[in-house]
Amino acid sequence: MLQRILSSIIPQKKISDTEWFALQFDSAKARDVYRIPLPGFPDDDTQKGFTALSGENNMRQAFEFYLHMRKVCRLDMLKQPKVLDFGGGWGRVSRLFLRDTAPQNIYLAETRASTIQLLKDLKAPYTLIHNAPPPPINGLPNNLDLVFAYSVFSHLSEQYFLDWMAYFLKVLKPGGHVVFTSRGHYFIRHLQHLHASESAAEPMLAEHIRRLKQMMPHPDQILRLYDAGEFQFYPIGGSEELTPSFFGEAFIPEAYLKKRFGDALISFSEDVPRVDQSITVLRKR
Ligand SMILES: C[S@@+](CC[C@H](N)C(=O)[O-])C[C@H]1O[C@@H](n2cnc3c(N)ncnc32)[C@H](O)[C@@H]1O
Repeated sequence: MLQRILSSIIPQKKISDTEWFALQFDSAKARDVYRIPLPGFPDDDTQKGFTALSGENNMRQAFEFYLHMRKVCRLDMLKQPKVLDFGGGWGRVSRLFLRDTAPQNIYLAETRASTIQLLKDLKAPYTLIHNAPPPPINGLPNNLDLVFAYSVFSHLSEQYFLDWMAYFLKVLKPGGHVVFTSRGHYFIRHLQHLHASESAAEPMLAEHIRRLKQMMPHPDQILRLYDAGEFQFYPIGGSEELTPSFFGEAFIPEAYLKKRFGDALISFSEDVPRVDQSITVLRKR
């Protein structure tokens, strides 16, 4: 109680990265000492349904992505930034921004109604928006500092990718950033491994692996096209609203991004620790 009263009158000291990661698993301390309202976690199977990871490993990956964005976009210089987590899932990345800005400045847009319901059940304190698969996002301000999307443009068609990028560059402030991940060499190596081995996966995963192996070209061909700078999209579909008309597996190489976005492309990386996808950063002039 005393701690809570003191924390409301004494300016908060900065939370280090190490402590902030630890606080993810201590919501009582985050609330009582720092007045940060961390939402709950979904169960492990639900987490795996989004990113094939759960628990600390899942949060580590989100955290490395968050730290990369902070560094490349100099987010520590901003006061109360407005950010959009596009295709935010259960909000594993959004929750990390609760150190940096007020909950209502974190917009989380999702196209699956069941995910919006999950976020409500977890008491997610962000501004939640249920969007249609193509742009726009109703109710979004047009002065955002940052738009990010983890493992969303690893799944969307080229037309959707281009339409969403044009839209994000419109709703960002000048100097704001779009950061997104996509499929690259890491996933191609994973596909090569799947082709080389007989998998004995659990039924749900087995169906996904079957689609990856049978509905896409051989990984050596995917690698050739990737290294030749081609955008590749294979419409194998996903669950619920994620129909093959726009959803599947997408590979976006650096050369393609350079050609499309020129100087706006400020960083492309395939070797951020724990992150199994490429990370692209675009800056609005
Ligand atoms: C692989 S999950 C990643 C979730 C989250 N970004 C994370 O890293 O934990 C992809 C998410 O994108 C959402 N999604 C796919 N297409 C979308 C679209 N057009 N608009 C909004 N969300 C979309 C899906 O519903 C799903 O929750």
